[in-house]
Amino acid sequence: MWNVICLLIGYILGSIPFALIVGKVGFNIDVRQHGSGNLGATNVFRTLGVKAGSIVLIADILKGAAATWVGMAIIGATWHPLLFGCAAVLGHVFPLFARFKGGKAVATSAGVLLAFAPVLFVVIIASFLLTLYLSKYVSLSSMVAGIVGTVFAITTGNLILVFVTLGLTLFVVLRHLANIKRIVNKTEPKIKWM
Ligand code: G3P
Repeated sequence: MWNVICLLIGYILGSIPFALIVGKVGFNIDVRQHGSGNLGATNVFRTLGVKAGSIVLIADILKGAAATWVGMAIIGATWHPLLFGCAAVLGHVFPLFARFKGGKAVATSAGVLLAFAPVLFVVIIASFLLTLYLSKYVSLSSMVAGIVGTVFAITTGNLILVFVTLGLTLFVVLRHLANIKRIVNKTEPKIKWM
């Protein structure tokens, strides 16, 4: 029973479309009609600037973390909270409050790992920043961070963590198919501020 409740809480938390809210409330802009059209922090950085992008990035990370922390508080420190975090990722990608068209799973997935495996989170952020510094592609950096995170998870010997990190990474890559095509065609936008 509590497992179902936590899954629902996770999905509903993940469904909060912070990119849409910050755009509409702060700027009267629907970010779905700008840039890549994605409801994620990267598109808010691109469309509305660093301050708005940072707010969305932190909020999207925290909703994944919150879903996992709520599960840890209610169920305990088993592996179940990882699934509640994954429910938040599903909510972020298919949000109840934004016609089921959301983001690309990156920040919210990172939030799940922040709550459940903070060292893995640090590894992911470090590999993301290094790849971003070298390539200037946020999308590529997101995928590389997931792959590096999966390899690191394998070294922990925690099978559940390996499966969840691998699953989240595959999901992130699937959500980036259009970005991959643009990277290959050299039409993917690079960031200009790093
Ligand atoms: O987090 C999503 C990012 O990796 C790519 O976003 O807007 O460039 O498609 P976007």
